[in-house]
Amino acid sequence: MTPSIIAIDGPVASGKTSIGGRLADELGYLFFDTGVMYRAVTYLALRYLGSAQDAAAVAELAARAHIDVRAPTVADGRDSTVVAVVAAPDGVTPVEEDITWAIRGGEVEGSVSLVAAIGAVRQTLTEQMRRVGRRGRVVMVGRDVGTVILPEADLKVFLTASVETRAQRRYEEILARGEDRNYKDILTNLRERDRIDTSRAIAPLRAAADAVTLDTSDLSIDEVLAAIHDLVAVR
Ligand code: DC
Repeated sequence: MTPSIIAIDGPVASGKTSIGGRLADELGYLFFDTGVMYRAVTYLALRYLGSAQDAAAVAELAARAHIDVRAPTVADGRDSTVVAVVAAPDGVTPVEEDITWAIRGGEVEGSVSLVAAIGAVRQTLTEQMRRVGRRGRVVMVGRDVGTVILPEADLKVFLTASVETRAQRRYEEILARGEDRNYKDILTNLRERDRIDTSRAIAPLRAAADAVTLDTSDLSIDEVLAAIHDLVAVR
């Protein structure tokens, strides 16, 4: 039987999003990129709190925020539209904001690992992700989908690639969007995010014991997809 819940985990720029998105398309499943949720909370913290330093305030903001991922509303290269609604504490009608591109910027990248290390934020977001995942027919990608969010997933894939390959991919993605960042900064930022993601106390990045690990350094997207389709077929 085709697996209903497919978990894909891996470090920054290991190919999770491109591969997970296409796999979901091909299977007719929902694609859920869990990193978007952490990015959205980080963006809101920078916007409304000025920084992501105060863990308790960020956790409180995460609990009040409603983050929604919808089909693309603008044809500008996005694969989904990410919207944030923050319930105003004073009861005034909450404002809805399209944060699709803002969550991909350098400022968010610089603070997102910090936010993802806050236990109370993880708890709030993990519960929301689980609710979506348990409906099934879903490809969910992130860092702890197979280990924490949905340990009952029918198929778990862990994607890896060398840090240089991943930095190069991220660099090309950013250039293609017309933004200007240098490769060395991206490599440094990526190493730091790897360090924080793998060493944090709660839900650190690691492969589940029953995950299949694929090193994508020398593989094209099509080759990785073919390998995952083989795994889907034998489940
Ligand atoms: O995959 P990404 O680069 O969009 O993830 C952004 C950040 O969120 C990254 O620092 C790791 C964190 N994250 C996480 O801790 N758990 C997840 N399930 C997904 C992302």
